[in-house]
Amino acid sequence: MKDIVEVIKTRRCVREFSEKQVPDEEIEFLIDYARYAPSGFNMQPWSFLVVKNKEVMRKISEHGKKSMIPMLEPMKDTSPKARDFLVFLKTKGTDMFYNAPVLVIILGNKNAPTVDYDCAMAAQTMMLAAQSKGIGSCWIGGVQPALMDESFLKELGAPAGYKAIAPLIFGYPKGKTEMPGRAEPEVVWLR
Ligand SMILES: Cc1cc2nc3c(=O)[nH]c(=O)nc-3n(C[C@H](O)[C@H](O)[C@H](O)COP(=O)(O)O)c2cc1C
Repeated sequence: MKDIVEVIKTRRCVREFSEKQVPDEEIEFLIDYARYAPSGFNMQPWSFLVVKNKEVMRKISEHGKKSMIPMLEPMKDTSPKARDFLVFLKTKGTDMFYNAPVLVIILGNKNAPTVDYDCAMAAQTMMLAAQSKGIGSCWIGGVQPALMDESFLKELGAPAGYKAIAPLIFGYPKGKTEMPGRAEPEVVWLR
């Protein structure tokens, strides 16, 4: 087990995976660790949808592309990042999940007042736990517009009263991922 500071610093968003599947026990381990995340009023308003079925992942990715492309079109002339992402989404055969072997969608109970923060905490906890075990991860926010389609989410098996918050992919990294630059944050001290 790696030191926590090293885990935080070495975690990367992984976009290239080996063929090896992540065993169910490892996914169970990650979900178990997610439970240790803090949550408002300790409501623990999360639920987990684990998708290992390739056809279901493909369906979500396709729905994701269809929902995301019209959102990015108006931004393509003003944002190079939006333009690059649009090119990626329009490229034939693009899988928004980078052919990862497993997708875990963290769902949040809509009745919990701090559900978005709580589930984001659970997501980071899962990604760090994954890193400690040599499992790569990435939050795929690009499929969020598709997952906001309630009937689609229901079709996927989400329990009633829950919304999708964090779609996370997991798998064993193929190669090494460089760290994208980190800016110096603005910090105000009041002493
Ligand atoms: C809310 C959120 C949404 C993200 N959505 C995507 C996405 O749709 N596709 C993708 O490849 N990466 C996505 N990422 C990953 C970021 O691009 C990545 O974390 C960032 O570039 C920093 O890289 P690092 O995680 O390796 O430090 C997302 C990250 C977050 C936190």
